[in-house]
Amino acid sequence: MGLLRIDKILSSQNIATRTETKSMIKKGLITVNGELVKRPEEKYDPDTAVINVAGKRVDFKKYLYIMMNKPAGVLSASRDNYTPTVIDLLPDEIKREGLFPAGRLDKDTTGFLLITDDGELAHKMLSPKSHVYKLYEAECDRKLTKQDARKFAEGIVCGDISFLPAEMKITGENKALVEICEGKFHQVKKMFSSVGAEVISLKRLRIGEIFLDESLKQGEFRELTESEIKGILSRKHGI
Ligand code: URA
Repeated sequence: MGLLRIDKILSSQNIATRTETKSMIKKGLITVNGELVKRPEEKYDPDTAVINVAGKRVDFKKYLYIMMNKPAGVLSASRDNYTPTVIDLLPDEIKREGLFPAGRLDKDTTGFLLITDDGELAHKMLSPKSHVYKLYEAECDRKLTKQDARKFAEGIVCGDISFLPAEMKITGENKALVEICEGKFHQVKKMFSSVGAEVISLKRLRIGEIFLDESLKQGEFRELTESEIKGILSRKHGI
């Protein structure tokens, strides 16, 4: 990562603002590799330096990767003047500059939303060329049929938009699992509406090979583990 100023390192981790860092340095509260830091301009490699602030070791994370079980009624956006966003649901201790939802779930869609500040991973996850499949559970307003599933498999064309062939597995009278690697606007809802079914509820269950942690209640979140971060970009698929 290279050398960074100590005040920059601490502000990037949401530990202290630059002003707070300055005042903590004056009070002798910050050490790096066992030595007292004397000036905010001092530079360290955050990946290797052992940084302590008020006796507590700083666990430096270049990027954050958060799995949220998105509730309905909340926008997949960073900021909105009228409606709460998924970022608003994060407590101040975890919030930091640059966090955004990687891809959009509709306001009424629930389930697995990745929130990160790693733009490169988000871009790869969202690009259809990466073949990262997302699995959804949909409930519709009518009984689903094998013929519907066949249409999904053939690739649906809806006006001037066409969708890649997709696997759809009927799991109950009006329920199905659908797997897609594109992320077109209202894609799953449009695919169902083009076969004459209206989606009543939609939940995302998996991204890549990582399933939503079902112990998370709606609105709850947790950080992804190292191996889960890798699994997000997996091309494995199949229902
Ligand atoms: N497809 C939709 O129609 N809505 C979503 O929120 C996600 C996929």
